Amino acid sequence: MDTARGVACLLVAVICLSCAAAAAARTPAARMHRHLKRLNKPAVKSIESPDGDIIDCVHISHQPAFDHPYLKNHTVQMRPNYHPEGLYDESKTNVASTSNGERPMVQLWHQNGRCPVGTVPIRRTKKDDLLRASSMRRYGRKRHTTANPMSVNPTMLNEGGHQHAIAYVQGDKYYGAKATINVWEPKIEQPNEFSLSQLWILGGSFGEDLNSIEAGWQVSPDLYGDNNTRLFTYWTSDAYQATGCYNILCSGFVQINSEIAMGASIFPTSSYSGSQYDISILIWKDPKEGNWWMQFGKDYVLGYWPSFLFSYLADSASMIEWGGEVVNSQPDGVHTSTQMGSGHFPEEGFSKSSYFKNIQVVDSTNNLKAPKGLGTFTEQSNCYDVQNGNNGDWGTYFYYGGPGRSSNCQ
Ligand SMILES: *[C@@H]1O[C@H](CO)[C@@H](O)[C@H](O)[C@H]1NC(C)=O
Ligand SMILES: *[C@@H]1O[C@H](CO)[C@@H](O)[C@H](O)[C@H]1NC(C)=O
Repeated sequence: MDTARGVACLLVAVICLSCAAAAAARTPAARMHRHLKRLNKPAVKSIESPDGDIIDCVHISHQPAFDHPYLKNHTVQMRPNYHPEGLYDESKTNVASTSNGERPMVQLWHQNGRCPVGTVPIRRTKKDDLLRASSMRRYGRKRHTTANPMSVNPTMLNEGGHQHAIAYVQGDKYYGAKATINVWEPKIEQPNEFSLSQLWILGGSFGEDLNSIEAGWQVSPDLYGDNNTRLFTYWTSDAYQATGCYNILCSGFVQINSEIAMGASIFPTSSYSGSQYDISILIWKDPKEGNWWMQFGKDYVLGYWPSFLFSYLADSASMIEWGGEVVNSQPDGVHTSTQMGSGHFPEEGFSKSSYFKNIQVVDSTNNLKAPKGLGTFTEQSNCYDVQNGNNGDWGTYFYYGGPGRSSNCQ
C-alpha cells in the first residue's frame, strides 16, 4: 500500500470515527448523561435518604452556583453582615409553641448521616427525575404563576389553572419577610399537579419582568417522583420565562449551610387533630452587600441570592405574599381534588386547618415588623379559603387551604 493511499484511508477512518462519536454525542442518552453531569457536582461524601434520595455533600466552592457566568470570580460570603432587628424577640412565642406539642423539625436524610464541614448537601438529580420532565431543558423550571390580587379576573382561572389562598401586603418598599408555616402532606390528584405553601418576595409588575424569590414546602410528584413534602425555593427575574428554577437547579443561589438540603423531604409532618409541626423561614436583604439571604428555623442560615441576579429586587421588593398554591389541571373536566395545606378549610382552626403565624416584613431600617394593611385573596373560596387574625402569641396569622373538589367546588 503506498503512503498516499494509506494516509487517505487513515483520514477516512478518522473522519468516520469522529462522525460516529458526534452522532453518539447527539443521542438522547448522551444528552441526558451530559445534563446530569452538569447538574450533579462531584461529591466528597454521599448519603442515601430513607425516601430514596441521594444527598451529595459537595465542596462549597464546587456548588452549581459557580456555573453562573457572573459568579466566576465570586468570593463566598460565609455569613450575612446583618440579621434583621427583632428576630430574637420571640422566646415567648417559642415557649408557647412547645406547650402546644410542637417540636423542632429535621430533614429525613439526617437519619442516615450528615455532611462534613466545608461541604453543602445537594439532592442528586437522577435519570428518572429528567425522564418525568416534559423535556430535559424544562426540568426544574416548571412555569408557575403568582397570585395577582389586583386583577381578580375569573377568566384567569382557566389559564394554567393555578389557584391560591394568600395574604399579602403592597404599597411600600420591603426588604424581607418571615413566617412560621405549619407542614402537611396534601394529597395530589394528578402527578402534573402540585400543592405548595410558601412566601413570595416580589419586585416589579405582574408583566414580563416580575422578580420573585420564593420559599416554603411543596408536594410535587413530577418534580420529585413521590408524594413527600419537601423544602423548596424558587427564583425568577423575568416572570418565570428564561430564568427561574426550583432549588438550585438554576445556578445562582450560593449555599453556605452543610445541614439543610434544598428539595429534601421534611420530616415529620402534621396530622389532623394530632401533633403539629411547623418550619420558620426568613428571607431578608443584607443592608451592606445587598444579597438576599435565607434562614431556615432559628439555627440554619442557608445561603443567599446575589443581588445582581435581579433587576427590581436589586433595590427592594414591592409586594410580599404568604399562602398556598395548587395547580388545578381539571382532570375529567371537573375541579381537581388536590388539597391545599391540610386539605381542610380555615374554619376548622388549630390542628385541623393549616396556618402561617408570626408573619412579618423587614422594613427599610432592617427591622422586622407586623405587616400593615394585610389583604387576603383567593380565586374560589369554595375550593380553597383564607382567614386572617391577630393575637399575642401568634402575632399576625392566618389559616388557609381546603379540599378542592366537593359539592361546593366543581
Ligand atoms: C474574573 O477574573 C479574571 C482575572 O482577574 C478576569 O479576566 C475576568 O474578567 C473576571 N470575570 C468576571 C466575570 O468578573
Ligand atoms: C402519590 O399519591 C397518589 C394518590 O394521591 C397515588 O396514586 C400515587 O401512586 C402516589 N405516588 C407515589 C410515587 O407514591
